[in-house]
Amino acid sequence: MGIQITPSILNADFAKLGEEIGRIGSADWVHVDVMDNHFVPNLTFGPTMIEALSTATDIPLDAHLMIEDCDTQAPLYAEAGASSVTFHVESTKAPIRLARELRNQGARASMALKPATPIEPYEALLPELDMVLIMTVEPGFGGQKFLDLCLPKIRTARALMRKHGVETWLQVDGGVSLETIERCAEAGADVFVAGSAVYSAADPDAMVRELRAKAEA
Ligand code: DX5
Ligand code: ZN
Repeated sequence: MGIQITPSILNADFAKLGEEIGRIGSADWVHVDVMDNHFVPNLTFGPTMIEALSTATDIPLDAHLMIEDCDTQAPLYAEAGASSVTFHVESTKAPIRLARELRNQGARASMALKPATPIEPYEALLPELDMVLIMTVEPGFGGQKFLDLCLPKIRTARALMRKHGVETWLQVDGGVSLETIERCAEAGADVFVAGSAVYSAADPDAMVRELRAKAEA
C-alpha cells in the first residue's frame, strides 16, 4: 500500500469541520479521535459525528477510539460509517472477537497500544488485524511531544509482521511532524497520523504532501 498520511481533525476548528476536511484533499484518511473523558481525560465525538463527517467527505474515516468498553462501543463506529476502527487493547476484553466483528461489518480492524503497552503479548493477534497503531504520546491531547522511547516498539512490531508474513499496516500517532516522521518511517511505520503539524500549517494540504515526501524519502 505504501506510505499513507492521515491528518487528525483534533486540532482543526470544530466550528467548521466540513471546511477543515476540505483543506486536506491529499490525505489518504481522515483520523477522528474519539474520547470519552474516562479512558482519557478529554471529551470529543461520538458515532453521530462519524455519520455526519462521512456524508461531508469522500476521504475514508479512520476512527481512533480512546474510550472505555470498546467491546460494545466499537461496532457502533463501523455502523456509523468509519472505514477503519481502532480500539485500544487496554480497554478491550476480547480483542479477537471484536476484530472479527469489525471485519464482518466491512470495516478495517485496528488495535492501538499506549506507550507503556508492549506488542509482544499480542503477536498471535496480528493475522486478525488490518492495522496496529503505536501511540507515540500518551493519548488524550494533540500537540504533545513525540516520545522517542516508542521507536523500538515500532521496530519490533514491523519485525513481528514480517515474521508472520501479514500485510498489517503499522500506524504511528502522536507528535508526528516534519522533524519526527523520518524516524518513524525508518523504524517501519507506514501510516502516519499528524494533527497539530497539519492544522497549525498555513497550508494544511501542502503539509500533508511534505510529510508524505519525507516519509517516502
Ligand atoms: C492523541 C490523538 C492524536 C492527536 C495527534 O491522543 O490520538 O491523534 O490528534 O495530534 P498531534 O499530531 O498534534 O500529536
Ligand atoms: Zn489519534
